[in-house]
Amino acid sequence: MGVAHYDWTDYYDIVSNGLEHDIEFYTELAGNVGGPVLDLGCGTGRISIPVARTGTNVVGVDSSGRMLEKARMKAKLMKVEDKINFVEGDMRTFELRQVFSMAMIPYRSFLHLLTVKDQMIALRQIRKHLSEEGLLALNIFVPTIRSLYEQDEKSSTRGIYEIPGSDDRLVVWDYTRYDHFQQIAEIIRQYERVDSSGVVLQRVVAPFHIRYIYPAELHHLLRLVGFSIVGRYGDFKKGTFGPESTELVIVAKNLRFEG
Ligand SMILES: C[S@@+](CC[C@H](N)C(=O)[O-])C[C@H]1O[C@@H](n2cnc3c(N)ncnc32)[C@H](O)[C@@H]1O
Repeated sequence: MGVAHYDWTDYYDIVSNGLEHDIEFYTELAGNVGGPVLDLGCGTGRISIPVARTGTNVVGVDSSGRMLEKARMKAKLMKVEDKINFVEGDMRTFELRQVFSMAMIPYRSFLHLLTVKDQMIALRQIRKHLSEEGLLALNIFVPTIRSLYEQDEKSSTRGIYEIPGSDDRLVVWDYTRYDHFQQIAEIIRQYERVDSSGVVLQRVVAPFHIRYIYPAELHHLLRLVGFSIVGRYGDFKKGTFGPESTELVIVAKNLRFEG
């Protein structure tokens, strides 16, 4: 069973365009290691499909059947369906009879794991599916005291988006509430489809939870499970990770095989 928020796949694709240069970053890394590549929390294939278009074989795993349905449709349209296998599964429990040169968890999907135990279980499961020299790449946002304080119990507009093939617009609101003891954010996302005269045609309330993680915490977690960090960046152009960074991009490899 997936996160219900991801049942709204068309709205997801309009709103969730990723982060600057994230597609290029993951595609280049996948190209350097060669295939096959495992995309965890692959969603509608935003990263899997561009990677497959470079000729690399991809297996995309996601817990949402609806996201995968759309991913398969998009892969077919882009004529890469023979390069990608989309599998419904949970990143904590998936079992594939295959090892990969690289696993990736783009677009902060790792934060959907809400306890340290689940994070460790997932990382161990991923490690089992990697070749000796296999890489794990992922990105998370960097929580700051200020943003955690300022966003708490507030509503904000995430944006107003054109709806392709229609004159309607999509107005998206987020209400965020934190439990700082558990490091959990509850985000209540509201999509409003509004026609050109301003009438609200549809209102969808789609809540979801994430567990925010501090950079040092992720470092320790990876190390504990047997990964060693080989790349740490503050953006997808491999900029230095520093005090002003809003994103943490990590590349790790199996500790046992560290060169
Ligand atoms: C933020 S979206 C990212 C989708 C895609 N990677 C992208 O970049 O657009 C997070 C995805 O993770 C999936 N997900 C959440 N929890 C999961 C879990 N435990 N195992 C596998 N997928 C999960 C959701 O269904 C959703 O498709």
